[in-house]
Amino acid sequence: APFPAPQIRYCSNTTGCCPPPDARVPVDFFFQPGLPMRVRSAAQFVDGKYIAKYRKAYAAMRALPRSDPRSLYAQAQLHCAYCGGAFKYKGSAWGLEIHGGWFFFAWHRAFLYFHERILASLIRDHTFALPFWNWDNQLPIEPLGNIIPCYFDEVDNNPLYSPNRAQCARPPNIVDLAYTGAGLNGECPDMEGLQDSNGEIMRLQMSAETARLFHGNPYRYNTRGGRSPGNMERTPHGNVHVFAGDPLADLRLNPDTQQKYAAYDDMGNLNRAAYDPLFYAHHTNLDRLWDFWIKQGGAHTDFSDPDYLNSKFIFYDEKQNLVSIQVSQVLDLDKLRYKYDDMINPWLMEPP
Ligand code: C2O
Repeated sequence: APFPAPQIRYCSNTTGCCPPPDARVPVDFFFQPGLPMRVRSAAQFVDGKYIAKYRKAYAAMRALPRSDPRSLYAQAQLHCAYCGGAFKYKGSAWGLEIHGGWFFFAWHRAFLYFHERILASLIRDHTFALPFWNWDNQLPIEPLGNIIPCYFDEVDNNPLYSPNRAQCARPPNIVDLAYTGAGLNGECPDMEGLQDSNGEIMRLQMSAETARLFHGNPYRYNTRGGRSPGNMERTPHGNVHVFAGDPLADLRLNPDTQQKYAAYDDMGNLNRAAYDPLFYAHHTNLDRLWDFWIKQGGAHTDFSDPDYLNSKFIFYDEKQNLVSIQVSQVLDLDKLRYKYDDMINPWLMEPP
């Protein structure tokens, strides 16, 4: 059976991530055909004017009180609630886990959609779209796609900055798409040959020929999930998270809570990843790669299983409404009124 929309009153707070009580019945998601077509651009190519707008939007989001579901805090908490199995259902033994199975791409697309609409409304610019962190672009040509863009890394007064990123992940170091956490000894990955091996990983992972290989295994209501991710979710998605998160964060104290962080905070830790604005640029790139995979055609199709298509999730929209959206509603980008800048995906080509 498909998953019914989770109810906040059945959220069990073992991970400390449940949204505050909200007894409203969620409204059904509806498309907004009147929205301008919003274009998500590669993060390395955006201009100063865009960066200013992007920063303003996150500054506004960070300034909201935590009790506001549009705040960065509440957004991160919601992601966390969907990843610890916190959303329980009456009469089911298992909580919902949107990672490690066929909901991975679809759930994150919906999350990004609402997140982006909130940012846009905070700066009153309905053309606003998130950028994508083009970490799959292994071309050694400036501006590089596969470094954390410098405007994320400026420490002072920068709402896009997170203090919980790995030193090794700071520009100009390039991303290691197969990173496994070996940097705990303080050594950064060897960048020699990384451009090529990153390209090879992309070629291999994106060649998934079935929905199962790409999205992950089917995962139905009343069963245990989280155990069979698709190729891309595992690598590079997971590796990029660990690469970007601070491996030594657990040696410091969180000034807010006076508690220790976890190792690999924030990005490297599912419960906290969405506190870092970089999370959203990481996931827009995955979302773009999903779109690209589908556009390649042939055997590249999404599941048509009704248990997939009819599963529902809840989110908060830019007006703080509680909204229920189902998987079938996120499969057509035109209807969601956004698209990606056309990119050459250089990993498609075999190296000479
Ligand atoms: Cu919900 Cu990159 O994880």
